Amino acid sequence: MANQEDNLFKNVISHAKEYGFIFPSSEIYDGLSAVYDYGQNGAELKNNIKEYWWKFMTLLHDNIVGIDAAIFMHPTTWKASGHVDAFNDPMVDNKDSKKRYRADVLVEDAIAKMEEKIDKEVEKAAKRFGESFDAAMFKSTNPRVLEYQKKIDETNARLKDAMSNGDMAGMKQLIIDLEITDPVSGTKNWTDVRQFNLMFSTEIGSLAEDASKIYLRPETAQGIFVNFLNVQKTGRMKIPFGIAQIGKAFRNEIVARQFIFRMREFEQMEMQFFVKPGEEMKWYEFWKEKRLKWHLALGLGNDNYRYHDHLNLAHYANAACDIQFNFPMGFKELEGIHSRTDFDLKSHEKYSGKKLQYFDPEDTQNFIPYVVETSVGLDRCFLGILSKSYQEEKLEDGSDRVVLRIPAPLAPNKVAILPLTKKDGLPEKAQAIMNDLKYDLRCFYEEKDAIGKRYRRQDAIGTPYCITIDHQTLEDDTVTIRDRDSMKQERVRIADVRSKLIDACSINNLLRKI
Ligand code: GAP
Repeated sequence: MANQEDNLFKNVISHAKEYGFIFPSSEIYDGLSAVYDYGQNGAELKNNIKEYWWKFMTLLHDNIVGIDAAIFMHPTTWKASGHVDAFNDPMVDNKDSKKRYRADVLVEDAIAKMEEKIDKEVEKAAKRFGESFDAAMFKSTNPRVLEYQKKIDETNARLKDAMSNGDMAGMKQLIIDLEITDPVSGTKNWTDVRQFNLMFSTEIGSLAEDASKIYLRPETAQGIFVNFLNVQKTGRMKIPFGIAQIGKAFRNEIVARQFIFRMREFEQMEMQFFVKPGEEMKWYEFWKEKRLKWHLALGLGNDNYRYHDHLNLAHYANAACDIQFNFPMGFKELEGIHSRTDFDLKSHEKYSGKKLQYFDPEDTQNFIPYVVETSVGLDRCFLGILSKSYQEEKLEDGSDRVVLRIPAPLAPNKVAILPLTKKDGLPEKAQAIMNDLKYDLRCFYEEKDAIGKRYRRQDAIGTPYCITIDHQTLEDDTVTIRDRDSMKQERVRIADVRSKLIDACSINNLLRKI
């Protein structure tokens, strides 16, 4: 990560803590690695993101319904889904630093370094040759670049081979051959590479003798698959239809870093769309486009999103891509869109012995539907919104301000109600305005400190509007509304405030933009 972005990320993290968005979990005991709590402002922002997603799925699509399945599921679920046998990451320890790493990530980092070397060669040559420089030609002919590229291709092929065959000895050999050193100890003193299952387990049952091992779900999707027939029959759903769900998922990530980007307890917003076999590619394209539009409507900048198609598909998928977001540490996965074929339902059929098929009334046939899945991390959406909203500004009068330009419909508070002084009946007037607004908009009331200081505090938590009640208010029933982004103030009749603010802060209006 470049230094400037590194600093920005650090500032975002400390701002999130200082202003009640995110706290380290159980901080008084020095925290728990890769687990975080959402504070008073974070919980509001998170709930608003959920509402935006839930309404998009279940209000705008009359063939999608939502459920809320339990976190604990019958242990056979995870056998059928493949998680017991294959939800592994390769893990390696450095014997000197005692630090633990994901072996595949160490290799990927080594590949990235080789790619950087190519970029440096190209940069140097571009300087040397000036305007006549042809980068593509240089890359395809320069012996040094060709050598690096050959090594990258070989490494990629060996990595793919080791990962898909579960060949941990091959993975270790790759680390040795690439001469990878531990960034902490600087040594190459590695343990063997071992497979590490990412699922957390616990025991259900009150007596030791009849307790049995169960897992905390590593994805919400399986709660949807096992309820496929329940929902289809009770909801009389006709294919194509979708089931949506928001909920917690748990993964014992080997290396959980980068704040809330990779956590051990996190939240997913997933939707499984059940379609006729053969029609899945049409729906895969449909959902790719729809989901990107959902993100773009937030207005964080179209350039901050891109598709990343998977070249190495999981055994159950016939197409898969990520929507990546430009996080402070670069473009990374925000959402996955996967065409999962009939893998999950078929496997649950096999393990449960229950038929999980759809009867098509038109051609009077039973079949196992194919599934297109959209799966977005709620916490990653949060991080994307928070990090792009965070701005440090130098104002015309030379002062500084930190502002969170959170899209108004998602902001924790929509409006701050600020009587100019604590006397002359201004607080009473302000309270009356708040009592009228609070049913529709989340309000924040404050009368302490100078008005400029209060504006800054609201900027820092992303409140899009501040209403100031002054002496003129008592005379003509008008207030000023200050806009967070432009800092402009406008005088408005109290009678018009509600409709004006509801319009700007409504999630439903945001949905209309998609
Ligand atoms: N059902 C499919 C599935 O779970 P995934 O790509 O493993 O697919 C989907 O996860 C999304 O969940 C990711 O795109 C990411 O946004 C989020 N996610 C996954 N692991 C996470 C973690 N450890 N911390 C935070 N979010 C995570």
